[in-house]
Amino acid sequence: MKVAISGKGGVGKTTFAANFARWLSQKGITVLAVDADPDASLGTILGISEDVLADLKPIVDMKELIEERMGGSGAYYSLNPMVDDILDDYCVTLGQLQFFRMGNIKGGGTSCYCKENSFLQALVNSLILGEQDTVILDMGAGIEQLTRGTALGVDVLVIVTEPSKVSIQTVKVIQKLALELGIPRAVVIGNKVRNLKEESFLRDHFSAEELIGMIPYSDELLEMSINTGSDELPGGSLGVQLNTIYQRIVDEGR
Ligand SMILES: Nc1ncnc2c1ncn2[C@@H]1O[C@H](COP(=O)(O)OP(=O)(O)OP(=O)(O)O)[C@@H](O)[C@H]1O
Ligand SMILES: [Mg+2]
Repeated sequence: MKVAISGKGGVGKTTFAANFARWLSQKGITVLAVDADPDASLGTILGISEDVLADLKPIVDMKELIEERMGGSGAYYSLNPMVDDILDDYCVTLGQLQFFRMGNIKGGGTSCYCKENSFLQALVNSLILGEQDTVILDMGAGIEQLTRGTALGVDVLVIVTEPSKVSIQTVKVIQKLALELGIPRAVVIGNKVRNLKEESFLRDHFSAEELIGMIPYSDELLEMSINTGSDELPGGSLGVQLNTIYQRIVDEGR
């Protein structure tokens, strides 16, 4: 299953992606967590040190390497035996979780992203991804990365939103794009919800089918940006709420 996380800047995409990835991996599922945000931060939130991240080669380079080896044919599907041995340079393994970074794609327009994303998609589809494995793509803020290439492989698009007008405007734009791109399912998660008023604000703007869950404003989640890399997932009632959302996404992807 492939899940892409999108939404307006700062709404909590990376925090959600990191927790979801950890939850899956603790359930014994192999997770490929991909930082597709040019302004990378998923690795840091997952607790990978700056040194390791600095040495980690981006997937964009793998594409070049593979093209080099393949003579630029783009025949990614026959690469299986060759990729395993080079994968280590491109991936940090944390138990059941494998972290990749997409890498900065400089200067290009949408077509440029599209190319890298199609490659990523071909890669995860044909080379690495087993039946149970899950790919989680932490997208950047904005929608420029949501191209046909990325969308192709995505089973569920999770759009994170705060209870604010500007944030839900972004959701609407992303929903429309998801539809155009043929993404089978786009769901909305309300994040940093502080009270009933904010809850009903979100409920007023989305159907029950769209809005699959809400996450309260929580100091514990806020602190994840300071105490990065903790193995412990939020417990208590927050944990229960989060688990319900994760399970819902897994079910949506079936
Ligand atoms: N439910 C929550 N309650 C309180 N704080 C939260 C919650 N979710 C996320 N945050 C905090 O909000 C800030 C932004 O979160 P995060 O980096 O995950 O957002 P983002 O959407 O990935 O941002 P960007 O668009 O910059 O990539 C962080 O400090 C994070 O700890
Ligand atoms: Mg982020």
